Amino acid sequence: RDKNRLAYNLELRGSILNIFAGDHRKPAENNTTTTTTTTTYEDIGAHKTIASEISPNLTTCHDSYGRPDLLVNCCPPLSDETSVVPVDYRFPDSSKSGLRVRRPVHLLDHDYIVKYTKALTIMKSLPHSDPRSFSRQAQLHCTFCTGAYDQKHSSATIDIHGNWLFFPFHRMYLHFHERILGSLIGDDTFALPFWNWDNPESMLFPDMCLEGPFVDSQREFTHFKHVVNLNYDDEMEIVAEGQEQVDANLAFMYNQVISAAKKPELFMGCPLYPGQDGFCNGPGTVEEAPHNTVHYWVGLASNPGRENMGAFYSAAWDPCFYSHHANLDRIWDVWRDLHGMHLPINDTVWLNSYFYFYDENLQLVKIKVSDVLNTTKLGYTNEKTDLIWLNRRPRPSVPPKTAKHILKTRETNNEMFRLQLLINRLEGRSLKNPITIKVDRPKPYQTKREIEEEEEVLVVYGIEIKGDFTVKFDVFVNLVNETNAGPSYREFAGTFVRLAHVVRRRSIATSGGNRKSNLKLGISELLKDLDADKDESIWVTILPRTSSCVNATFDGVRLDYLR
Ligand code: C2O
Repeated sequence: RDKNRLAYNLELRGSILNIFAGDHRKPAENNTTTTTTTTTYEDIGAHKTIASEISPNLTTCHDSYGRPDLLVNCCPPLSDETSVVPVDYRFPDSSKSGLRVRRPVHLLDHDYIVKYTKALTIMKSLPHSDPRSFSRQAQLHCTFCTGAYDQKHSSATIDIHGNWLFFPFHRMYLHFHERILGSLIGDDTFALPFWNWDNPESMLFPDMCLEGPFVDSQREFTHFKHVVNLNYDDEMEIVAEGQEQVDANLAFMYNQVISAAKKPELFMGCPLYPGQDGFCNGPGTVEEAPHNTVHYWVGLASNPGRENMGAFYSAAWDPCFYSHHANLDRIWDVWRDLHGMHLPINDTVWLNSYFYFYDENLQLVKIKVSDVLNTTKLGYTNEKTDLIWLNRRPRPSVPPKTAKHILKTRETNNEMFRLQLLINRLEGRSLKNPITIKVDRPKPYQTKREIEEEEEVLVVYGIEIKGDFTVKFDVFVNLVNETNAGPSYREFAGTFVRLAHVVRRRSIATSGGNRKSNLKLGISELLKDLDADKDESIWVTILPRTSSCVNATFDGVRLDYLR
């Protein structure tokens, strides 16, 4: 049998190589700042590799890196996975018990907290050999976020951050976690709470998380008397207080969920395909922030990787990780409803990708992305709460005409500024200092139909971080004054936030080694608000927000169109 398997593997490998050799599907990262391309997920997916989906090969679990200097082993006991036959996922029958209703943390009552406390206490008391135990649950996140598994049919590892697997993977993970908690207290209506940091009522660290089994000593407690900064970077420490921060957060939410995320790829993240060549690194707007930023804000600043929450390998050891992610899960649905994206991605690679989880009955279950697109079928729903940020569309900080006039004059009168605009078009520019680039718009005069169908996308491409650092920078359009630039104003287009995390990739050397990433931000609405939708070019400013930006470079900024 082994011989057969070997032959099969070799054959497989041969065909993988053949396919890759003749396949130059990857859209070239153009050097010029003006290329006119309109792409959809389907265009990029026109190629097909040998595996038609992404899934972990359970027999390949290996050591991985939690931080560049920290080797971790997040593998489950081997026998648990290799000797067990998984069953296909089946939707729960909630006709008798009704849907589980996830509630916002600020509305939890005493009885609920008692219940959750009991469930978590039992979960924490289970031995590590039990897949339902808290330590196994926490470890599961480490397994997938550090690339401890290879993919099936490939030596490429799996990463569930920075690509289109982010939302579905975490939904599966929470789904089983929630059902296990419920079953441990014999309550099939038990639902996780969500920490709705997007609501002014919940912008402080949740009280619940500071009691009993929810406590985690590895947190940055100095932050907890302040309103959370959803666009946090640790160097601008608490710039705003109280209401000012609340307002900035609401405007930020508007940008991240509404104006910058009008097309699936912008929200869901880049399409990851099977095999080494399918690699992509480009999280959606909300994964960049508030997802990454809240992780970073909660984690203990004096720990090397801001463990627990600040580093993915350790994050799920913080019991409030799950409330943070329940909110992200809810925001996925909010986005879906706002933009009418009930099937966000119609690509079979995505739809068929699958993972394995132990359920509440200790059964190993195989679950596909297409299984988790409807929460009602999964047996839960999120309680409706106010979405105050829906009508917090930010306004320009300077009247747009004035701003453009100032920038033009600066360009004509200031030799240095003009020179900078040119130099900044070079590849491999350092992100050490603020940078302004003049970017031509390929289609300044779009037809009405184009305007309706296409989203103009600002792409900061070829971002490379040398070493493994947490790096954050913000991106602005037609910005005049850098000093109080932030998400409160319309000039803010979005943010790039990369938490230090290593994913072990087995053969970087053989795969061309191009591991650069792109930041994509929808700006059609922003251009309109800045009175720039008919202009032939715009000024794009990148403001580094962490001193680690010294280690980051990028190749350029261009405008694309997404359908
Ligand atoms: Cu998988 Cu918030 O991380």
